[in-house]
Amino acid sequence: MQLEHVVPFGRSLNEYRAMFDLSQDDLGRKILGVGDGPASFNTEMRERGHSVISVDPLYSFTGKEIQRQFDKVVNDVFEQVKCTPSDWVWTYHKSVDDLRMHRVSTLEMFLSDYEIGKEQKRYRIGELPRLPELSDHVFDLALCSHFLFLFSEHFDAQFHVTSMMEMWRVAKEVRVFPLLTLGGDSISTCWSSDSGVNTTRVCR
Ligand SMILES: C[S@@+](CC[C@H](N)C(=O)[O-])C[C@H]1O[C@@H](n2cnc3c(N)ncnc32)[C@H](O)[C@@H]1O
Repeated sequence: MQLEHVVPFGRSLNEYRAMFDLSQDDLGRKILGVGDGPASFNTEMRERGHSVISVDPLYSFTGKEIQRQFDKVVNDVFEQVKCTPSDWVWTYHKSVDDLRMHRVSTLEMFLSDYEIGKEQKRYRIGELPRLPELSDHVFDLALCSHFLFLFSEHFDAQFHVTSMMEMWRVAKEVRVFPLLTLGGDSISTCWSSDSGVNTTRVCR
């Protein structure tokens, strides 16, 4: 992975709960976050005594390198958002400034936990479509947000099928969000999804 091609923005526990429809019971399950990047999901879950392992190629970089890349891209990204307000849904975040503040605080939370989390093997270097370091069926739930389907221009259908099967190999249930490409095309014709919720669930 080349860091200069990455926009290291991550989401919070509350956003993960909303995206994946996570219940209180779900939070107590053994969770794998694939492509969690600089989300504060793992950090906030640990603070609440829950168990999450996050796997992402980004974790081959240091916290300083991730922070530097964030600082490098953040102004340009939010300028683009400001120029295209109607491309965004402003129900969760109320404004561009609110969204930016949220991304900054999420990164801060992630970085405050990153080094210790790496030592504790809660943040592990790895990437789809294969997770060879993980044994079969060790997780109750695998989550993947804002990676699969979204970047369909760069990853073909075979990559997606192999990745889904790989997450299913290591977890009893897989949830992916969103079921959209970056261009806004729905992929719900390819994968079954809960009606009304833009999340796919593949249950064993
Ligand atoms: C847009 S970020 C989403 C981060 C987090 N899931 C969230 O929603 O806040 C996409 C993440 O996918 C990761 N990624 C890129 N290639 C990957 C791969 N082959 N397997 C797993 N993750 C990958 C990136 O490093 C990045 O952290």
